[in-house]
Amino acid sequence: MDKIRVIGGSRLKGEIPISGAKNAALKLMAATLLTDQPMTLTNMPNLADVAFMADLLRGLGVSVRSEGGNRLGEGARYRLHAGTAVHTTAEYDVVRKMRASFQVLGPLLARHGKAKISLPGGCAIGARPVDFHIKGFEAMGARIDLADGYVIASAPAGLKGTTFEFPFASVGATENLMTGAVLAKGRTVLKNAAREPETQDLGHCLIEMGAKISGLGTSEIVIDGVEALNGVTYAVMPDRIEAGTYAIATAIAGGEVELVGAQASAIGALIALLRQAGTEVQETNRGLSVHRNGVCPTAVDVNTGVFPAFPTDLQAQFMALMATADGTSHIRETVFENRFMHVPELLRMGADIKVEGDLATVRGVPRLKGAPVMATDLRASVSLVLAALAAEGETIVNRVYHLDRGFERLEEKFSAVGAQVERIQ
Ligand code: UD1
Repeated sequence: MDKIRVIGGSRLKGEIPISGAKNAALKLMAATLLTDQPMTLTNMPNLADVAFMADLLRGLGVSVRSEGGNRLGEGARYRLHAGTAVHTTAEYDVVRKMRASFQVLGPLLARHGKAKISLPGGCAIGARPVDFHIKGFEAMGARIDLADGYVIASAPAGLKGTTFEFPFASVGATENLMTGAVLAKGRTVLKNAAREPETQDLGHCLIEMGAKISGLGTSEIVIDGVEALNGVTYAVMPDRIEAGTYAIATAIAGGEVELVGAQASAIGALIALLRQAGTEVQETNRGLSVHRNGVCPTAVDVNTGVFPAFPTDLQAQFMALMATADGTSHIRETVFENRFMHVPELLRMGADIKVEGDLATVRGVPRLKGAPVMATDLRASVSLVLAALAAEGETIVNRVYHLDRGFERLEEKFSAVGAQVERIQ
């Protein structure tokens, strides 16, 4: 099984191209089920999760073809065509690999009036139920049964517009209901909806397909159902989590890196904290420039939250930075329970971190030490690579298949800016 080997101590210099956003790409792929016309998605990242979603869609009868994306910095182009012959069952074998598979429920129910989807798997970060999705579709008139690990949903007369308030601004549930509501009868109002940039990206694509949606980026999204949607060509937004990860990497290792394609507005909360911690971040005409000279990072406190607050998907990476900061940082995780699985691994590298409930107290140490460590989930595993950049000696990160789910050509991107990161067998 592949491993990542990192030798710490190199400063970073140069530029890193930011790929298309995984969390937007997967939902846009699912949305192609909403139309019988061909769709083209460009700026697609080359990731294991995208390949899983392509397999899932093929299993549903969708034609999926991809081209390009073979060079660093070049996105792939996907042509997807759901046509008329689409199956409505998503089997356990595919869905268990990735929670985002559950996002096909809305489009299938909306267009075909039925769907049978295995309950999802994905990263083991907390319980991650799908109760908001189910309650929302029930409010839209669907009948939902749970049997043998499957969600069996039907709406023979189609989905009906409704007003639904999410108990928590869930990204997946907002997107699933939004893709159901675009073909429903009448008006759907989603309250306490997710405002995440990827949710907005999906909404913008749906609008180009002919959907009537207003309020994207606010807590109240209003959708007026239409009869049918058309196919379009749509470019996936740049990945803000990837951009944020390389920004934090530069803060950890020191040096100066331009993140080509990064959007400052999508990671405002991170940029503010990086600046407080002593890193310079500036917008350039191509993206963002991140610079830290020899001065030790300063400890700052972080609370994760829904957009525009600090993203939970950057919490582990920021903790790696705080592990070598000057002072004590308090990091509170409010979105997911049990999302501190990287802590025991960072401790193996000499970090000083205590966890009580949803709060991690990180006392910065002057230097981490390389060690063999284990990747536990997608974002946790990249935080170990980041910590290794500042550590003395060699770190081997095991179980890197987690990294391949969400970070395209990680070792190539790091090597291009002078880090010693390589994939070994
Ligand atoms: C998405 C992202 C993930 C990110 C997360 C939060 C994708 C593919 N994944 O995950 O990278 O970390 O948003 O920004 O886009 N919840 C329920 N019931 C539900 C749905 C959610 O209790 O029906 C809870 C979850 O357990 C969690 C919280 O709500 O504690 C947020 O989850 P949600 O926003 O739905 O995350 P995902 O869409 O799974």
